[in-house]
Amino acid sequence: MKPSPVDSALIVARNVSLVLGRAPASVEILRGIDLDVAAGESVALLGPSGSGKSSLMAVLAGLERPTGGIVTVAGRDFTTLDEDALAVARRGRIGIVLQAFHLLPTMTALENVAVPLELAGEGDAFARAEAELAAVGLAHRIGHYPAQLSGGEQQRVAIARALVGRPALIFADEPTGNLDTATGAAIMDVLFARHAASGTTLFIITHDPRLAARCARVIELGDGRIVGDRRGA
Ligand SMILES: Nc1ncnc2c1ncn2[C@@H]1O[C@H](COP(=O)(O)OP(=O)(O)OP(=O)(O)O)[C@@H](O)[C@H]1O
Ligand SMILES: [Mg+2]
Repeated sequence: MKPSPVDSALIVARNVSLVLGRAPASVEILRGIDLDVAAGESVALLGPSGSGKSSLMAVLAGLERPTGGIVTVAGRDFTTLDEDALAVARRGRIGIVLQAFHLLPTMTALENVAVPLELAGEGDAFARAEAELAAVGLAHRIGHYPAQLSGGEQQRVAIARALVGRPALIFADEPTGNLDTATGAAIMDVLFARHAASGTTLFIITHDPRLAARCARVIELGDGRIVGDRRGA
């Protein structure tokens, strides 16, 4: 039997819409999104501010339920799972770096990275967290609380937290948005090293042309619709 696209693609979106707010003030954020992302792809999502990039990522990552359409990831229909089932489906498989980093203020950098892993039942959580923080250049800051870290440092803690579970799929919302050129390049190296070594699928929202250029596929969003989808040379 020929596999359907739903079986063969890692991420499948079919006619996905997202409407937020209540009528008459409701806003159509996503309109008829159709998308297939194969395992192992590296995708950059571009588009003007307010075009729906973070919203699309939230829907594809199972953080937000679409108003209409279907989203499946690794064959699981996210639109039918409840919150708990979604959390289980994400755990260990999907790493997410949000635009606002959502670090827990009462935990140190090390704890922010290690505790979710420990809760997932991993034995060597703290050692792995320390290694991951070192990989993003924060070996000297592991004992700091988020309030004691710069914006770019908090961003890197969030990236370490997303990577430490060795997920097959990483969503990152402007992961170099708060970083200087050199630090941003180092973070890209960390992400693409994972992509190269483990075939990790990357789905990265970015305004940074250098980061987009490193992705094999560039999808452009405009006013809630896909207006461009091209693969690099
Ligand atoms: N809860 C909400 N209710 C109504 N509108 C919302 C809500 N959340 C987001 N929006 C609107 O949805 C649109 C898309 O937002 P989104 O955050 O996805 O944009 P974006 O492309 O990520 O922009 P940026 O580049 O600035 O991060 C925006 O116009 C925003 O104002
Ligand atoms: Mg955004």
